[in-house]
Amino acid sequence: MPIVAPSLLAANFLRLQEDCNMLNESQADWFHLDVMDGRFVPNISFGLPVVEQICKATDKTCDVHLMIVEPEKYAEAFKNAGADILTVHIEACTNLHRNIEQIKSLGMKAGVALNPHTPVSLLSEILHDIDLVLLMSVNPGFGGQKFIPNTLNKIRTLKKMIDEKGLQVLIEIDGGITTDNATSIIKAGANVLVAGNTVFKSPDPAATIAQLKAIA
Ligand code: DX5
Ligand code: ZN
Repeated sequence: MPIVAPSLLAANFLRLQEDCNMLNESQADWFHLDVMDGRFVPNISFGLPVVEQICKATDKTCDVHLMIVEPEKYAEAFKNAGADILTVHIEACTNLHRNIEQIKSLGMKAGVALNPHTPVSLLSEILHDIDLVLLMSVNPGFGGQKFIPNTLNKIRTLKKMIDEKGLQVLIEIDGGITTDNATSIIKAGANVLVAGNTVFKSPDPAATIAQLKAIA
């Protein structure tokens, strides 16, 4: 069964409590929280106060995806806000190993995210230090974009690398996931499905989550 992580970026920000309640009662496994700084990506989403309130509103795993430069400046603040998993972009980290050590020493799981153009081979010397790889299947910055098909090749290559090293690193896919393409994403070797618009624009979000969860 995949881990299903709805992205709150597509939630109704005026009714966040209701959307959190819906997710709490649904089969969703994680809350996916997209933090954007207007520098690493050409958009600004929400920051620490919002993350803190959302994390308080759930007992589920809070999966924080940082699309920001200099994530080391904020790692501790996100831990204090309630993050369970903190994912940083490889393209934003000159000293990635140091970022990973910092996140783990703060007591969070550590993830590394890759943009669509970034080869998974760049992970070879860090894979054994991390808990999760997030492969962007759209260019980061916005919800509601179209899934980039080459992501499936990247998933297969990454899955092979993880298996060959005998590791348990999770593969999370983020962007453009629908109930139509989710099966091929899981078949390619992914473990975690992030879904924003597919869940929140659905007439029955909880049923859509159940549908993603039921993928074999
Ligand atoms: C994009 C974010 C995604 C986004 C996914 O930069 O990282 O998590 O919310 O949204 P959908 O599922 O609508 O593509
Ligand atoms: Zn994300």
